Amino acid sequence: MKLRLSKVGLLVVAYGTLVSAMKFEDFKKCDQSGFCRRNRAYADDAASSPYALVKDSIHTQEDRIHADILNTETNIVLTLQVHVLKDNTARVRINEKQPIKPRYEDHVKFTLVKEPETMKALKTETSDAGIITIHMDKQRKIVISPEPVRIEFLVNNEAAITLNDRGFFNFEHLRTKESHVKKMVEQKNEDGTVEMVEAESEKDLWEETFKTWTDPKPNGPESIALDITFNGFSHVYGIPEHASSLSLKETRGGEGNYDEPYRLYNTDVFEYALDSPTSLYGAVPLMIAHKKGLSAGIFWMNPSETWIDIVKTQPEQDSKLQKIFSHTPQVPSTQTHWMSEAGVMDLFVFFGPTTKDILRQYSLLTGPPAMPQMFAIAYHQCRWNYINQRDVLEVDRKFDEHDMPYDVIWLDIEYTDEKKYFTWDTPKFPNPIEMEETLDNKGRKLVTIIDPHIKRTKDYRIADESHQQDLFIKKPDGKDYEGWCWPGQSSWIDFVQEKSFNWWKKQFSFDLFKGTRENVHIWNDMNEPSVFNGPEITIQKEMMHDGGKWEHRVLHNLYAGLSHLATAEGVQERTAVQKRPFVLARGFYAGTQRAGPIWTGDNIANWESLQYTNPMILSNSMGGIPFSGADVPGFFENATPELLARWYQAATYQPFFRGHAHIDTKRREPYLSAEPYRSITRDTLRERYAMLSFWYTLFFDAYKEGTPMMRPMFMEYPDDESLFTVDDQFMVGSAVLVKPITVEGATSTDVYFPGEEPWYNTKTHEVVGNKGLHNVEAPLDTIPAFYQGGSIIPRRERVRRSSPAMRLDPFTLVIAKGSNGSASGRLYMDDEETFSFQKGAYGHTLFEYKDDELSCQSVHEDATGSAAKSFIQLNKEVRVERVQILGQDVKPKDVQVVHRDGKTEKVEFAWDATKKVLTVKDPKVSVLECGWKVVVY
Ligand SMILES: *[C@@H]1O[C@H](CO)[C@@H](O)[C@H](O)[C@H]1NC(C)=O
Repeated sequence: MKLRLSKVGLLVVAYGTLVSAMKFEDFKKCDQSGFCRRNRAYADDAASSPYALVKDSIHTQEDRIHADILNTETNIVLTLQVHVLKDNTARVRINEKQPIKPRYEDHVKFTLVKEPETMKALKTETSDAGIITIHMDKQRKIVISPEPVRIEFLVNNEAAITLNDRGFFNFEHLRTKESHVKKMVEQKNEDGTVEMVEAESEKDLWEETFKTWTDPKPNGPESIALDITFNGFSHVYGIPEHASSLSLKETRGGEGNYDEPYRLYNTDVFEYALDSPTSLYGAVPLMIAHKKGLSAGIFWMNPSETWIDIVKTQPEQDSKLQKIFSHTPQVPSTQTHWMSEAGVMDLFVFFGPTTKDILRQYSLLTGPPAMPQMFAIAYHQCRWNYINQRDVLEVDRKFDEHDMPYDVIWLDIEYTDEKKYFTWDTPKFPNPIEMEETLDNKGRKLVTIIDPHIKRTKDYRIADESHQQDLFIKKPDGKDYEGWCWPGQSSWIDFVQEKSFNWWKKQFSFDLFKGTRENVHIWNDMNEPSVFNGPEITIQKEMMHDGGKWEHRVLHNLYAGLSHLATAEGVQERTAVQKRPFVLARGFYAGTQRAGPIWTGDNIANWESLQYTNPMILSNSMGGIPFSGADVPGFFENATPELLARWYQAATYQPFFRGHAHIDTKRREPYLSAEPYRSITRDTLRERYAMLSFWYTLFFDAYKEGTPMMRPMFMEYPDDESLFTVDDQFMVGSAVLVKPITVEGATSTDVYFPGEEPWYNTKTHEVVGNKGLHNVEAPLDTIPAFYQGGSIIPRRERVRRSSPAMRLDPFTLVIAKGSNGSASGRLYMDDEETFSFQKGAYGHTLFEYKDDELSCQSVHEDATGSAAKSFIQLNKEVRVERVQILGQDVKPKDVQVVHRDGKTEKVEFAWDATKKVLTVKDPKVSVLECGWKVVVY
């Protein structure tokens, strides 16, 4: 979080107007970032590309090709490697053949979970013209053209992705200042004379200044850039984090477009602007293009500052170079231009063919999203700050008093002794263990904040050890880097350095972080890192990591991801029997999905910010980080009761659900709302809890397959073009469609229902309608949410105060009949906290309803294994206590249960003729031990 200046607060009071606004001048535009300006200019001048394959250098193996690339203007030689990987993936790496010093590649060991597995291609052939074709399989080909070098990725003989189609490929080789040959251009003077002057591209090569900061750039220019064309694709998604639309906008001006590229550079942006390509707290360079019939993706694995231009074209505007190549179809395309400040070019191409396939392919490389403990997906209550131990327990008590479920209460920075992390402000928190035990007795957790900046002060063990053991990021002269953050003068842990990473992990052990026990989890804020007095509110790029090996410049975006991973590992390893850690972070990078959730940072309590939660979280889903959420109901400023209620409703259907508030806001725990808002908020919290098992099953799918829980509409309906830009409604899994109300005073809204199945209102259970746009009622107590026909949704409807109390609760199965009368759905269960599920200790049940019969079967990967068997044995009493069949047109004559042992008995039922809902009462069948049937006659 960031402090609002108290002056601003006074202005609000004095004039009653909103004065909040992002300070754009604190952050660079492309033309203030030397390499971005150079590469945009390079692109504007590109007529052809000077890069060519060196004929005799081509080396072909079954799973790869290696070759040299010559820059025919500078005679610098690069190496190209193209690898064919398993699961429809290819990797392209380009580096300098003989750099004067190594370029940064160590990030690979943090970003990829293992060395990607290569695969033998069917065959590789080279034409007389030197065109190399790798036949990956029958449908997919990689075609490398030699001069200029250009790489196409084809699916069924059509190019889906083309690299260097427009000749923007630019690899600034490392050089010494002395050896650098300046590019000179003619300049016509007013008197008609001509003189030679330094080209525009010579500016800012060796030093650049932004505001009061001068970046010394000891390595000079070292950027890499490439144009990547998505042929025939009109929409691209991903590359979080931006407060922008789900379908990314064009960035080179024109009506409705941005004129700045999307930027990836982790920064702490105070009161960030909406509808902007400005970089925010996190960065994942994963972009997915989608069209009817095909999705294709790019993971540009580079953690340095990166800018991405996007232009969409009609056929006639296409590539300058393509005329000479055959494969590029004459169709609308999305042309992107990727520019990174340093490092090597190392990118992955995903052939899909679906968006879900791409997210699986990406998670095979960068790791699966972590399977959270159950409490992590329940409701969290945070505030800057719960001021003391009494306050915490009072809030806890009030939730119970008002019958509102919640699982986790949070402590922001004020719980520490002078912002010294791993300490407590003892007068306010005299006995944290006792407080934690009180929470634990109700199955609740505590989250405390731990940031990566360390107060520079005497008699503080954390600071002393970090300094003495050289664990901090360093200045170029080898001394500890220092800057300002919450504690005042601070230094930053260098997570890139192995010994710092490992030391940090140990600090979470209960004997070092005194006053904590097993139900304490962690929050990493400010990990971009945020430096109040640094350029762009972050660390200077010339600072050094890993014992002086690497400049911060080359790895900036990685830093946040590493702080998160180190913390998560530390929390995991503090107990003998490891529990799944819970760590929330603000800054992030590719791989963060392995560590835990992120949130969209310091948003504002207004309707526009609520609207933007949907595209922002969906973009995180498309960026491989499915577990994310936004502060409810907006961090800064006071929320109106209506906004608060509507925001709680929206967040009920978003993956991470946390109420949070700035220190200057009025208290707004949901029980403080007046009626009817309080009841409305209570209802929506209960709805979240009723759906926890449904969510948990989706989290398991994410862990197994990389499929996000909260999905863009087009992910479920990939051939419905009217959904390609939709980001104000979304899917939770395949079964639930949600359209949050984000407009003040709304009482109805338009919802587009796709597909061929009927849709049922989740509250009334009535059929809403079939395919098309429908105006649906949405009074204040209603969030438009719908079950898709054909789904079975497991719900737990007993009201409990926290999720652990629900562990053995019975289920209601909601069967939303499909158009052919059948439906199916799954339920995943485990111990909700340890890693035993990885050894098979879980239950995974598929429920099916067809021909008027409900039955189930295990879809456990190893259902007969001992771990599965004993889990089921232990939990077999968990039963179905109610079945609701939606879309039951006729009144049944009878409903009977056929038990596992063959015994048949009648069960009570009720049929609602108006709503066409059949409710079957307590069939007493197990959700884990199948072999029974419920038959409707
Ligand atoms: C009903 O439709 C669903 C979805 O199209 C399909 O998967 C299922 O097999 C169908 N069931 C029957 C009994 O035809």
